[in-house]
This record gives sequence, C-alpha cells and structure tokens, in this order.
Amino acid sequence: MTDRTPVIAGNWKMNTDVESGTKLAEEILALSASASGVEKIVCPPFISLTSISQVLAGSSVRVGAQNVSANGNGAFTGEVSTSMLNGLVSHAIVGHSERRAMNGETSADVASKAIAAVDAGLVAILCVGEDLGVRKTGEAAAFVSAQLEESLAGFSQWDSLIIAYEPVWAIGTGEAATSDQAQEMTAVCRDVVRKLAPDAADSVRVLYGGSVNSGNISELLTQPDIDGALVGGASLKADEFSKLIAAASSN
Ligand code: PGA
Repeated sequence: MTDRTPVIAGNWKMNTDVESGTKLAEEILALSASASGVEKIVCPPFISLTSISQVLAGSSVRVGAQNVSANGNGAFTGEVSTSMLNGLVSHAIVGHSERRAMNGETSADVASKAIAAVDAGLVAILCVGEDLGVRKTGEAAAFVSAQLEESLAGFSQWDSLIIAYEPVWAIGTGEAATSDQAQEMTAVCRDVVRKLAPDAADSVRVLYGGSVNSGNISELLTQPDIDGALVGGASLKADEFSKLIAAASSN
C-alpha cells in the first residue's frame, strides 16, 4: 500500500462559457468542499480562469489549465504562457491526446511544455495513451512506455508531476478500460519513472482517464497503481463529479 493522496481532476475541454463555468465551479465547491484526503482539481477553458480562480480561492478545489505554451511571452498568436497563468492556476495539463492528435503536438513538444510548467511553479498533469490500432497490435505497453519516456525528456522536478494514462479508445466513448487494463498500464507508467528517477517512482501519482464515471471509479481506485482519475464528460456535472471526489475521499 502507499500513502499517495488520490487526485480527481476534471478536464472541461472546450465546454462552458464564463457564466456557466463559474456556476459549475461554485456547485462543485458546494458539493465537495468537505471531502478530505483527496486532491480536487478543475481545468476550465482559459477564458474562465480569472473568474473561477476567484471563486475557488482559498478553497480545497484547485484550478488547472488545459494546456500551456512552452515559450515565454512573444509572437505566438493564440497561445498562453506560464507567466499569464501566474496566480490563476496551480496545475497544467500537457500532452492531452486531443492536442497530440488535432494540434500535432509531439512528445518532444510535450516534454518542453511539462518543463515550462514546472519551472513556473505549476504541477504538470502529463497525459499519455495508445489508440485503438496500437491496442489491437498488443503493443500498448511498449508504446505508452516509449511515449512517456519521450514526453519526460529532460524532466527533473518529480515532485511536480502527475501522470495520466488515458487510452484514446476510452476517451469520450463510454467504454472505459477495465480496471485490470488500467492497472497494467498505470504500472507501466510508474515503471518508466522508476527507470528515470528511481526515488520518485513510489510517490508520483498516476491517474487513469477515459470514460470514468460514478459507476466505475471505485473499482478503478482499488488498483494499486491507480491514484485517481482525469475526467472529461463526467466533470461537467457537479453532482457526478462530486461523486467521483467522494469515492476517492477518505471521509
Ligand atoms: P472522458 O475524457 O472522461 O470524457 O472520457 C477523459 C479525458 O479526455 O481526459
């Protein structure tokens, strides 16, 4: 057994506007403020971060960005730098599969973003995962292992890292990985950390993501290498997200 504090992080993706997002944050806070022994994080769209960081200031619910630029301020149209996020967020998702697939982010890009995030004092939530084609070849473990190692090139601030194993075939499909599949692959992720930084392997949190809901969270959390969840769809409903927090809470 470990003493790793579980994490429930909500990735709102391109959903909500400032008004509805702020309301959602208020509802999540009201329903989950008293849950202890679990780290609660919401990752709203950039435009809502100012409002939501005020709503959640001083509370137990932390705020994360869904992405961050690896570059400092300058001529990067449409991008958001770590310094712009200063004071608004404590965490930043990097390498989500949607950004890898739709925005062409490579693992080298993800490594640069993770380093920029932690250098700015943020915790990086670094996502990896295989697609269905890779899963069908039986090479998922080797693929994710290599993807994670490449995404951690040059990384050294292990206290500021959370890894999210998110199989692409399980994201938004309603078809979560089984808890055995998720356990196997989160253990693969932890083994990568053990290889790169042996002292960090037992303390780094590794999350599962992909169609997590209140019906499957408890079984996922029984697995020894699953330290919580990165949640998309189910994070957009305050009552459902609060159930996930409650399932991971120690009270
Ligand atoms: P989902 O998304 O929970 O809607 O499957 C997970 C994610 O993309 O982080």
